[in-house]
Amino acid sequence: MVWRLASYLTQTLPAEAAHNVAVKALSLGLGPAPSVPSLPVKVGTMRWPNPLGLAAGFDKNAEAYHGAHKLGFGAVEVGTITPLAQPGNPKPRVFRLPEDQAVINRYGFNGKGMAYAAKQLAKRRSDMILGVNIGANKLSEDKAQDYHKTAAFLAGYADYITVNISSPNTPGLRDLQDGKALQDTLAATFAGLAEAAETKPVFVKLAPDLTATALVQSMEAALQFDIAGFILTNTTIARPAHLQSRYQSEQGGLSGRPVKAFSEASLATAMTFIKEQNASCDVIAVGGIETGQDVLMRLALGASATQLYSALSLQGPDLPARILTDIAAFCDRHHITSLSEIIGTAATIEEARAFAAR
Ligand SMILES: Cc1cc2nc3c(=O)[nH]c(=O)nc-3n(C[C@H](O)[C@H](O)[C@H](O)COP(=O)(O)O)c2cc1C
Repeated sequence: MVWRLASYLTQTLPAEAAHNVAVKALSLGLGPAPSVPSLPVKVGTMRWPNPLGLAAGFDKNAEAYHGAHKLGFGAVEVGTITPLAQPGNPKPRVFRLPEDQAVINRYGFNGKGMAYAAKQLAKRRSDMILGVNIGANKLSEDKAQDYHKTAAFLAGYADYITVNISSPNTPGLRDLQDGKALQDTLAATFAGLAEAAETKPVFVKLAPDLTATALVQSMEAALQFDIAGFILTNTTIARPAHLQSRYQSEQGGLSGRPVKAFSEASLATAMTFIKEQNASCDVIAVGGIETGQDVLMRLALGASATQLYSALSLQGPDLPARILTDIAAFCDRHHITSLSEIIGTAATIEEARAFAAR
């Protein structure tokens, strides 16, 4: 109840102030800690206690991941972390679009840099799955080198590394999704891991704005490396015609409900390609997830796990527990004893949706 009130009050603050309050509260351990059902999934070589992770962007400086984990998430991804501290774009730079259950942000990797993040990550307890999402500084002249530096510096703290080349708010970053640039970026990341003598699973996070052809080309280039898989997707620069909010024309990445269709389509394209190639890689699905049904649908379509962010900021901290309880009830109803029975059972988006709606 206290949490309902507190999260209602933060909704009355401007979006960035609300975000900062939420990070502060969780960093101080002032958050709910519901007990959530055990719903284990295999994600590459990892075992997540449930298939719902917190996506990157909430805990940019790795200050609140213990508190975020306590909300019930099966994994928490911190970052994006860049080598150097940088201020990001001028404010205001994040907007809530409640009418559309969406968020637009153009933060631009505001953050305290990898040395600060490493200090925070050194405090981690080992009873959780922690992803570290890495990126490049805005003014960096050699972006690939930034992935080398951050991978080398931070891999020791991570259960997995996410190579973020899909944020729309750093000029040129999305160009790293193109074949040659992507290979240079991954070569640099793996060189960083080798330098640190770490072999952590590496995921590549891609944009929902790639055409199906471009998505497959990026995946093909990435699969030349020993990656664990893909995170699909980041925010979109598209602005669907159905948006209602007065903030709809703000520049930046749109997330939440309006990105759902894009992310689902990317996942479907990716799974078809993975099957065709018989590639051994996993997909973590993210974009517009707000219900247990959304999670089940992505698993049926082939994702190994999911993440969310926007719905948490719009609906409050008890959302993960509600979603996981709904998934457990679905499994009980349909006598499903392990989520592995579900993964990849649907061939199309429609089939996956119908499955999850049962
Ligand atoms: C305010 C905000 C900041 C974000 N910052 C990052 C980031 O730093 N790095 C990243 O990889 N993704 C970032 N994202 C994207 C999310 O991780 C996620 O991919 C996207 O929002 C789609 O999921 P959602 O619809 O559940 O929010 C951010 C999203 C939001 C809303």
